[in-house]
Amino acid sequence: PALASCAKPGNDGINPGTLESKAKLPQPFTVPLPIPEPLAPTSTDAQGAHYAMTLRQAEVEILPGYKTAIYGYNGTFPGPYLDVRAGTPMVVHQTNQLPVPIVTHLHGGLTPPSDDGFPTDFVLPKALADMADPAKAASMPGMGGMPSMHDPLAHMTAVERDYVFPLKQRAATLWYHDHRMDFTGAQVWKGLFGLCVVRDDEDDKLPLPKGEREIPLLIADRAFDADGQLLYPVDDPTLLGKPGMKGSIKAGAQGDVILVNGAPWPFLEVAAVKYRLRLVNASNARRYELKLDGPGGGEFVQVGSDGGLLAAPVTHSTLHISPAERFDVVVDFSKYPVGSTVTLKNAAGDGGTAKVMQFKVTSKASDESSVPARLSTIEKLVVDGEKRRLVFALKGGEWQVNGKSFDPAKPLLKAEFGKVEEWTVTSVERHPVHLHGAHFQVLKRASGSGDYDEGWKDTVELSPGSEITLAVRFDAYRGRYVAHCHNLEHEDMAMMAAFQVV
Ligand code: C2O
Ligand code: CU
Repeated sequence: PALASCAKPGNDGINPGTLESKAKLPQPFTVPLPIPEPLAPTSTDAQGAHYAMTLRQAEVEILPGYKTAIYGYNGTFPGPYLDVRAGTPMVVHQTNQLPVPIVTHLHGGLTPPSDDGFPTDFVLPKALADMADPAKAASMPGMGGMPSMHDPLAHMTAVERDYVFPLKQRAATLWYHDHRMDFTGAQVWKGLFGLCVVRDDEDDKLPLPKGEREIPLLIADRAFDADGQLLYPVDDPTLLGKPGMKGSIKAGAQGDVILVNGAPWPFLEVAAVKYRLRLVNASNARRYELKLDGPGGGEFVQVGSDGGLLAAPVTHSTLHISPAERFDVVVDFSKYPVGSTVTLKNAAGDGGTAKVMQFKVTSKASDESSVPARLSTIEKLVVDGEKRRLVFALKGGEWQVNGKSFDPAKPLLKAEFGKVEEWTVTSVERHPVHLHGAHFQVLKRASGSGDYDEGWKDTVELSPGSEITLAVRFDAYRGRYVAHCHNLEHEDMAMMAAFQVV
């Protein structure tokens, strides 16, 4: 069984750890990094820019020499790259041809609740949509995976829908992924995730590296069986259908193969100039401590975080990046001689998971780009609303927020629209905490480094035994959102809370 082979502890110290691949893996840094091409809009009109995506099964080459069955937006792994403008609504027509219900969330998007991918707002598979009787539908094995105790089948929609994302927000690196209640981890692992970059004039005008010198890096770990198929812990039949058994995947699903833009330990040829790297941790549960290992070391100059540009750049020798976080960084490859290699390493991993990708510095080139000392202006939030405490805790096999497992029908709290609230989040375990509906600012941390908390955030890592105080103002839309752990297996084990903005 999958879990029996995971002897190593997870990198949060909770067992089990990394799933071991049985397929033949490539030598690191032999596969070229795929550079995503923007998806072309199908049309642009007064409503916005229209895109079409069909969610379907496909077989793709991830490991050289193998065909891996995936679930993909347009059948690709990762899904198409959405390159869009702030202020122009993005209308994505999605058609579900998968055998499972899906829900799409634009992570980091300021989206009205109706289009934000609430975990029970399913877009149905055809087989289910065809069934008139929802009670019958609920007992169909075609739901794909383990029977859910609490899929209420309440918010069913058809096999297709438009998601309308207004994008009234700053330029930022976002991503989108499945958000189906109880099955997000399994469905994202299968391939339901992709990149979305929002651009605006403020960001465009900066002299940061652009065009071919702006590279998105979506980092995600996976494991593969002897046939090159994706291994996932709940594929283990001994874990299926037993209440509480999902709690066995305490560290979340972590694989021993690190993929960047869907390729295992890839390489990229670069000129000896500055590059802007948009790092996204799209892993289900793995956190990384990224370092640049080249002649004379290496550093990242951070220019942006989850919610776009920082006020001023911050230099890091190591980048801690927890699941769902984004770091927008500039790396200056002119510091390295032509002919050298610079490896992006993961100090939080070992063996295959200690390396991510490699840059090969192959040529000289001229470089007009620079990193200005001032990047943007960030309003400092001042608390004038409620102060709340949220406790993320694993209690007796239950994954809870404030002592409650996720109940889509019962909001945990009501946040007041337009007020700056103070949310203090605590845990004894490690959890990447994510809020929908707003970006926030980190006011303080009880422990751990605040170096990675600059700017507007939507996900922060809560280290074990820690406490983080956030300032958050829900001033985009009213209605129902969720807050949850972005370790997707923790989320699926119900470490999520609904809340209302009123
Ligand atoms: Cu990236 Cu609620 O999710
Ligand atoms: Cu968690």
